[in-house]
Amino acid sequence: MDATVRKQKSDDKNLELTLRPSVWGEYIGQEAIKKNLSILIQAAQERKDPLEHILLHGPAGLGKTTLAYLVAKEMSANIKITSGPAIERVGDLASLLTNLASGDVLFIDEIHRLNKTIEEVLYPAMESRSLDIIIGKGPGARSIQLELPPFTLVAATTRIALLSSPLRSRFSGGTFKLEYYTIEEIEKILRRSAAILGFAITPDALRMTASRARFTPRIANRLLKRARDYAQVHKQDTIDENVAEKTLELLGVDHEGLEEVDRQILNVLITKFGGGPVGLNTLAAAASEDIQTIEDVYEPYLLRLGFLERTPRGRVATPRAWQHFGKTPPQIKLL
Ligand code: ADE
Repeated sequence: MDATVRKQKSDDKNLELTLRPSVWGEYIGQEAIKKNLSILIQAAQERKDPLEHILLHGPAGLGKTTLAYLVAKEMSANIKITSGPAIERVGDLASLLTNLASGDVLFIDEIHRLNKTIEEVLYPAMESRSLDIIIGKGPGARSIQLELPPFTLVAATTRIALLSSPLRSRFSGGTFKLEYYTIEEIEKILRRSAAILGFAITPDALRMTASRARFTPRIANRLLKRARDYAQVHKQDTIDENVAEKTLELLGVDHEGLEEVDRQILNVLITKFGGGPVGLNTLAAAASEDIQTIEDVYEPYLLRLGFLERTPRGRVATPRAWQHFGKTPPQIKLL
């Protein structure tokens, strides 16, 4: 990654932190989850119990980390943040757990990337607040058991299917799936973000940006920031429809919110494989993209748009996808 890209990414990260809602009432959307969590939180507070363990899943950028922060805040608890890949050894987890204070929230992002040995140490910690570790090796090895303070694990994943069922079953507080936002919700988020950034945005520009943000707050906020840059460079103090349109054009985001890579994937599927079905590995190789990235980043949105279908025989481009490229879909093959 070159220095400019790195700087851009760190600016975006800072922006994400600035725009992240810091109180429960400011979190827009995900109403069903908020209702469930509110009850869970209130009930735990009334009983003076720690909150039970919670698993949040859904596509990237929908606000899982933000929710974890807000849950901790509502519980007046401290939050410690880590991620599956950052916990490399059992000792890392042991150190995290033994440093928790009573009532703390431990947030583990990307929990599907936690290795199996570590996962097994987590089970008794979650279930009975017991940390069982083996010290030493060979005949002299001994097992010790430490009692942990009451704590809440909030875990997040984009890939729930990769979690083992013993791990899933230990989230006694519940498993919650974050849904894509509606355009109206994204508009609300953008209106709030523009106010925080101190920029005026017209209703047309708001709608245009919201409708191309892949139903995802993180992407909406990123587009807004690029539009702000564009306006600033062109000495305009308002993001109007023209600024929004030019920004989206520069970024290669089309009117369905598709980016270059989405179009590449669909194009390859249509032109090289007659619309499919084709296996993900073959598709990824032909589109020169990483399989994991296609599954995590691009595919969920294409599925949601109804441009792509997953079938037992592989990925298929829908008639809508063909039409998006100005092509006529083939007649439905009769089985
Ligand atoms: N920024 C990112 N996600 C948000 C949300 N759900 N509500 C308000 N602002 C946000």
